[in-house]
Amino acid sequence: MAGRIPESFIDDVLARTDLVELIDSYVHLKRTGKNYSACCPFHQEKTPSFTVSPEKQFYYCFGCGASGNAIGFMMDYTRLGFVESIETLARNLGLEVPREEGAGQQREDYQPLYKALEAATSFYEQQLRNPKVKERPVNYLKSRGLSGETAKHFRLGYAPQGWDNLITTLGKSDSDINHLIKTGLLIENEQGRRYDRFRDRVMFPIRDSRGRVIAFGGRVMGNDKPKYLNSPETPVFHKGRELYGLYEAKQASNKIRRFVIVEGYMDVIALAQFGIPYAVATLGTATSRDHIEKLFRHSDELIFCFDGDEAGRRAAWRALENALPTAKDGRQIKFLLLPEGEDPDTLVRKNGKDYFEGLLDECDTLSEYFFKHLREEVDTRTMDGRARLASLAKPHLEQLPAGVLQQLMLKRLGEITELDDIQLTPAPPEPLHQGPDYSDYPEIEGLQSDQPPPYHDYDSGHGPGQTDTGKPGKRQPIKRKALQKTKHRDELSLVDATIRMLLNAPRQAAALSLPDELQGLQLPRMATLLELFEFIKQKPDASTASILGHWQNREDGDTIFKLAAKEFLLPNDEQSPELSDAVRRLYLQKVEQDLDQIIADGVKDKNKFKELLHLQKELSK
Ligand code: CTP
Ligand code: MN
Repeated sequence: MAGRIPESFIDDVLARTDLVELIDSYVHLKRTGKNYSACCPFHQEKTPSFTVSPEKQFYYCFGCGASGNAIGFMMDYTRLGFVESIETLARNLGLEVPREEGAGQQREDYQPLYKALEAATSFYEQQLRNPKVKERPVNYLKSRGLSGETAKHFRLGYAPQGWDNLITTLGKSDSDINHLIKTGLLIENEQGRRYDRFRDRVMFPIRDSRGRVIAFGGRVMGNDKPKYLNSPETPVFHKGRELYGLYEAKQASNKIRRFVIVEGYMDVIALAQFGIPYAVATLGTATSRDHIEKLFRHSDELIFCFDGDEAGRRAAWRALENALPTAKDGRQIKFLLLPEGEDPDTLVRKNGKDYFEGLLDECDTLSEYFFKHLREEVDTRTMDGRARLASLAKPHLEQLPAGVLQQLMLKRLGEITELDDIQLTPAPPEPLHQGPDYSDYPEIEGLQSDQPPPYHDYDSGHGPGQTDTGKPGKRQPIKRKALQKTKHRDELSLVDATIRMLLNAPRQAAALSLPDELQGLQLPRMATLLELFEFIKQKPDASTASILGHWQNREDGDTIFKLAAKEFLLPNDEQSPELSDAVRRLYLQKVEQDLDQIIADGVKDKNKFKELLHLQKELSK
């Protein structure tokens, strides 16, 4: 098998290709001011709204939203795959495509880690048969109603009491010990002392979709805290991507009709034991876009199942937000909120399979849940309320892929709000045949003035309707004058707005440094933002097109492209104070998250609390 194409080569191809020349060889382009335009090759139109920026090496259609760099154009226009597109561009440049050595090399590197994890799994499994220690864990599993067969199917085990069971059994050599440390099964403290991470816990091995054990969750049998202890992130375990039970679900059936996504290990296991083998759980994290796309590779129907309490509703809305961009026609997404105080484990045990499957059959579709949730936020009897509903819903509907669902939901929004002209696609403010002339855009004026930046802080993990909680110290959403004038500019979350700025002004971004604390900020797409920033730091000369090249073939690539396209109206390297301001605001959100946490924990560390309050004040200035 051929190896990967080196990223540096992709950069090189993008840097050497002239996008204007390339597109012009397929679609005749006319110069219009700084840019070039044509009737869009990706949709039917009479006046040209397809624009190519030579400066950015990026194209954008105001009519249909198509956008991309040279590779994207080749993929969309000629319908070639990613690799073939690069090969074609390289051929045009007279270059040969190099390949990285040794495909599958990575797997070899991690082999010892998988082996160590497998050995630990067997060790823990054996302890459930070890007469010296098995009594308590076996009784515990029985008390939770699990059969021996189920325990075997999920390879449940027991990590005995004591600090060195794993080391003495599996750590025969230095290299064995190192591998155990790398998998997170052993902890090495600052004094160099090593000890077992999991002690006196029932063990749930987490398997990847190929069935390899990559991590563990361990549950206490009593009421100690934490109830569950999980493996840390390791080279083979990224919890934001893995789903507990996916392998087992795949084992149970070769055509999975639907998935139900639940919150806990025990929910997956209980459902399987009661004849519902298609449940999976995220590992104590929010449901990410990666999770959703992964599941859609195996089935067209996903049902999110959450507890009916406040936390569950919040998690459901977050899942919905991440699911919107994946809701292509032909896929079905549903939501089931359980009665308070119940979880799938307790419900299926009490009422059985048919009852639970009945709930799954009858629960809300994405559209139903979406409007139900938003209607709880506003009073649709008043005109103001309906207008507010429309403005809350619109940015979400724009996240949907164009298609039947989007049309239907838009229609439904019109019915509920009694507004019949809700436009989704951002329209250009100028007649396009004249070509966009940047200096005429009112929003550029807005940016150069001292108006606050065009985002508001509603991505603190709550739904947008919950911004104005009136909590002391929380900022109100910022309304920008220019924004109200220019409808084509949507409000973005702070993270997305920052991503967009990074993409638009990579050089400016490269000069900036991010506070380390941002690593811990829990917001949608924060990981992407950090990764993007890291990338720009390492390649401070990268152009927007070349940065996009690195995201082209990835699952989150689409989002990045869409964000970049929104910035299309701004000239390159726009000197604006926004980026550092956005970073300050993100930092402030992190500090506020930490404050919330400290308060929730009862302010045990007073100094830390004071320090954070001080930081909050500084950052709010
Ligand atoms: N979780 C975790 N760490 C914790 C608590 C929970 O990682 N300290 C994760 C686990 O994956 C757990 C899930 O969140 O399965 C749901 O937690 P919770 O609702 O508290 O527990 P249940 O799954 O109901 O666990 P159980 O039924 O065993 O009490
Ligand atoms: Mn439970």
